[in-house]
Amino acid sequence: MNIPKCASAVLCTLLAAAAAPPTFAAEALKIGLVLPMSGPFAGYGRQIEDGVRLYLKVNGDTVAGRKVELLVKDDTGVAPEISKRVAQELVVSDNVDILAGFGLTPSAFAVAPIATEAKKPMVVLNAATSAVTTKSDYIVRTSMALPQVTAPVASWAAKNGIRKVFTVVADYGPGHDAEAQFKKTFEAAGGEVVGEVRSPVKNPDFAPYLQKVKDARPDAVFLFVPAGEQGVAFMKGFAERGLEKAGIKLIATGDLTAETVIDAIGEPGLGVITSFHYAESHDSPENKAFTHAWYQAYGPDRPDFMAVAGYDGMHLIAEALKKTGGSADADKFIAAVKGMQWVSPRGPVSIDPTTRDIVQTVYIRKVEKVGGRYQNVEFDRVPDFRDPGKP
Ligand code: PHB
Repeated sequence: MNIPKCASAVLCTLLAAAAAPPTFAAEALKIGLVLPMSGPFAGYGRQIEDGVRLYLKVNGDTVAGRKVELLVKDDTGVAPEISKRVAQELVVSDNVDILAGFGLTPSAFAVAPIATEAKKPMVVLNAATSAVTTKSDYIVRTSMALPQVTAPVASWAAKNGIRKVFTVVADYGPGHDAEAQFKKTFEAAGGEVVGEVRSPVKNPDFAPYLQKVKDARPDAVFLFVPAGEQGVAFMKGFAERGLEKAGIKLIATGDLTAETVIDAIGEPGLGVITSFHYAESHDSPENKAFTHAWYQAYGPDRPDFMAVAGYDGMHLIAEALKKTGGSADADKFIAAVKGMQWVSPRGPVSIDPTTRDIVQTVYIRKVEKVGGRYQNVEFDRVPDFRDPGKP
């Protein structure tokens, strides 16, 4: 045999190591989170990141033998060019396995082609325009679709004596979806949309719209604006301009009364009817465990639907990796999530194997004060509801 003699003990050790089969510890699982962490939508980034981190805190930060590493990049909100640039950096420089996050629709639209080209799974944790999941075969969504959370409140309105509605929506993807679905469902049920306005997605001034609505004297206004300060401003204007006194009701998707803003809305929010997939007050053991863990980890800040989408998104990633034996290969990952079912803090959910979108219960809720706290109180539900905005 021709065994080379080692010139030194050190060299000998090195040669032996080189000849031995590799015994790598499993590589870290790198998840690149593209989120608004600054600007008017920074609250989305906070909720989503905290939701993802809470899942890891509760369930351990190693999935299928791989330690999870989160790389968070700020895309500042409605800034598709920035979303694209930071996603590219995550793929090219940081070599992430999975892209996730996406607080707003323009961000998800901008990054979808990168997921396709780079063959990375893309887990959407908020962006809720129906078409988001059609923009790449590697997208899966754990939040919601606007038509899905709009149709139930349109049906509720038609069944509850509301005949004439004026719609007010933010002028971009999710608003257009909400406007179209509201009209479709409400008019099919015998109602009439008597006016429609679209407000700018950045810094809207609602005063002129509120006056227009008041003059049209509808039974109700249907509103969609992205969760946060805009809803608070709209509600303030609604009360100040006397729409409520004029007998005009307000109905909306639950973005309006998210638990992160419901206290800022305060009194004028009482009685507002919304439809949505998550309420902090949802009565289930899974939600009790989630909210308990949340308050232990984050103190007084309340969790809203974005926190739950982050938590569930991390659950989906962990379960998919268990199925693939730790591989984040995009084709294997997407095959693993199709048809996946679990009980979320929001209730039972599943991933539609055809659309890769979430199927879930949508609840009808009313803002009430419960034990001194403003809450969205669920009083009716549409179980296993798919996005009706998809063909
Ligand atoms: C979106 O941009 O898709 C979006 C943002 C905030 C929401 C809902 C949807 O509350």
